[in-house]
Amino acid sequence: MTEYFEQYASDYDRVQPVKIEMYDFYHRLALDLVPFDTDEPFRFADLGCGTGNFLSMLLERFAVSDGFALDLSEAMIDLASEKIGDSSDRVQFVQHDLGDPLPVELAELDMVVAFSVLHHLTDERKRAICGEIFSALKPGGWLLLVDAMYAPYSSDVWDRGRERERSARAQRFEEAGILQAELDRHEHAKSALDESSPERDRISTLDEQMQNLRDAGFSSIDRVWHFWMEHLVVARK
Ligand SMILES: C[S@@+](CC[C@H](N)C(=O)[O-])C[C@H]1O[C@@H](n2cnc3c(N)ncnc32)[C@H](O)[C@@H]1O
Repeated sequence: MTEYFEQYASDYDRVQPVKIEMYDFYHRLALDLVPFDTDEPFRFADLGCGTGNFLSMLLERFAVSDGFALDLSEAMIDLASEKIGDSSDRVQFVQHDLGDPLPVELAELDMVVAFSVLHHLTDERKRAICGEIFSALKPGGWLLLVDAMYAPYSSDVWDRGRERERSARAQRFEEAGILQAELDRHEHAKSALDESSPERDRISTLDEQMQNLRDAGFSSIDRVWHFWMEHLVVARK
């Protein structure tokens, strides 16, 4: 069922934070924006938890929180479960394709986090899942959303940014000792995904995604940070 992320999982923690320039930064920023006291119990769902990088930070800082962690890839879930170790009794892992409606167990949540996963969904599912997240939240509940979304840039600024990104990324990979052949292997697996694969990139515009959140009924929607195409949005029911 999964092809790309199942293979990428074992390399993810070594490669992804180097590939995505601000990966560590936006995780720390999002953690600081979690709107609960560290001794306050709350229930969350992490959609597309991957190897559990944010999940482990969340569980460590908020020691009485509990919740759900969903991902399509079994290998990702295994790594996330291993990473959170003793905290695994506070998390229910669910292997789930977010192309399908959210499981009904996701209800009465205080917070949903979705980092770099909604861009895999079709436009129709992106719209629908915003409504499902809204329904799964308690009144006053929060959504922390990080994703790649197109925002308008003038072409010369965009071209310069892309060029800078290409060379800065190559330098980061070189410094980290990550070989081009390895990256090519992953990129090849990604580009070979079938048109209908649930793992394909289907990046939409920031405007479309903000409209989906407004249509779902969120009362406040704040884009608190962005770096080129990466955006961190905090929305409240
Ligand atoms: C770019 S990774 C992000 C992982 C994690 N949230 C992070 O920020 O490190 C995307 C994750 O979404 C999962 N994924 C991709 N398509 C999915 C789908 N249709 N349903 C559920 N999970 C999916 C992948 O298996 C992968 O773990």
